[in-house]
Amino acid sequence: MTPAILAIDQGTSGTKAAVVGADGRLLAEAYRPVAVSCPGPGIVEVDPHDLLSSVLDSGREALAAAATPVVGVSLANQGETVLAWDRSTGTPLSTCVVWQDRRATDTCARLAHVAERLAEISGLPLDPYFTAPKMRWLRDNVTAEGVVTSTDTWLLHHLTGAFVTDAATASRSMLLDVERVEWSDEAWDLFGLDGEQRPEVVPCDAVVGRTDAFGPSLPVAGVVVDQQAALWAQRATEVGAAKCTYGTGAFLVVNVGDRPVRSRSGLALSLAWEADGQRRWCLDGQVHTAGRAVAWLRDIGVLDDVAQIDALAAQVDDTAGVYFVPTLAGLAAPYWEPGVQGAFFGLTLAATRSHLVRAVCLGIAAQVADLAGAAAADLGTPVTTLKIDGGLTRSRVLAQLQADLLGAPVEVCTVTEATVLGAADFGMRALTGLPVALPANGRVVEPVQDRAWAAETLARWRTGLDLARRWNERLLGETPC
Ligand code: G3P
Repeated sequence: MTPAILAIDQGTSGTKAAVVGADGRLLAEAYRPVAVSCPGPGIVEVDPHDLLSSVLDSGREALAAAATPVVGVSLANQGETVLAWDRSTGTPLSTCVVWQDRRATDTCARLAHVAERLAEISGLPLDPYFTAPKMRWLRDNVTAEGVVTSTDTWLLHHLTGAFVTDAATASRSMLLDVERVEWSDEAWDLFGLDGEQRPEVVPCDAVVGRTDAFGPSLPVAGVVVDQQAALWAQRATEVGAAKCTYGTGAFLVVNVGDRPVRSRSGLALSLAWEADGQRRWCLDGQVHTAGRAVAWLRDIGVLDDVAQIDALAAQVDDTAGVYFVPTLAGLAAPYWEPGVQGAFFGLTLAATRSHLVRAVCLGIAAQVADLAGAAAADLGTPVTTLKIDGGLTRSRVLAQLQADLLGAPVEVCTVTEATVLGAADFGMRALTGLPVALPANGRVVEPVQDRAWAAETLARWRTGLDLARRWNERLLGETPC
């Protein structure tokens, strides 16, 4: 019988669990949404109990539905979301402060004088997106008790009792020496976190312990941050290979090989993975609200359901001059301006909701195209094909706009959720020595617009982005109302 593994992708808006066979088939799947609360500008939180229940419930449901034994459990995590918790009981001492939360902006401003040194050590620009600024913020504003870690460490402790994080997740913290792949005493010190307990950094194919949280006693193996798991599953293992996952945010990640390569274009450098004794590094750029921007359209009543995107966006051939800047939770690479807010430009009485929905798709695709340009500048060669995955790639309009704005084909992964396969593969290799067969080549979407259209459209979108950045500069120092 083909061995199978329970792979869990704990993402921002929900947890997906799948029982994955070594042949790459998804034998059963389950999903539990996680309620993300945004009670004020810049605040993005999740209840830790909700997060944990989503992992346990989706895992148990997938396992029961597959009705086949599994060799173990693997876990992908969202990366930079943090909480304080009691290490002896596992009890949360704070909410989960989500990676999109910007309350650590002032923490970063106070550390501006050491930003360059921190970037040298960690490969990451000083920004509230990353883990350490939010850890510092929690210490300054919420509690001095317990430990403060990223959510993977807390979940793995709950499952196995271990106190660990994987090297790829650790490389999103600003506390890891990105070249040596070990905690940097200096970085912990600069953040004033030198008194904190540090989880052990383990490879992505580590076996971290056993759990009976899903029913049978199972080893937990294969632990990795979600974007890097998708990079692995998309077979982006060669230098220059790129993927973009359109989940809550959209994340363009490029493999830069077996040595860390610093970005000259403002992208973040982190570890892609450490597995089988090998290390790879990657550069990434982020759209902080992609699926979340579409969910926001639903929340404010523009869409009845997120699945309705194409039903509306495909009704029109253009956006009627409307442009959307998808910075509803700040602007990351290559500008790193966390205060920038989202914006629609070019509204007229001719704009219908179809135009608005299409403009949101176009805005996300334009920002990804800009990030691909930054990656191309770093690599000295254009991104020739972009592999794409994630829930939003169900939208044919988005995939087409992405190809058009990149001026290059995009390949849509046959499995929407590549992340879960990446985690499954790391775990399966660790536990059985076998790889998981990764997805076959996907549907290729060729550009249908010419380069002049792409250049003109991107130029207009960038004008909108510049205006949103200027609006933020104008507002700096003011309290949002
Ligand atoms: O860096 C945060 C990112 O990895 C979250 O991914 O899938 O929840 O948008 P997702």
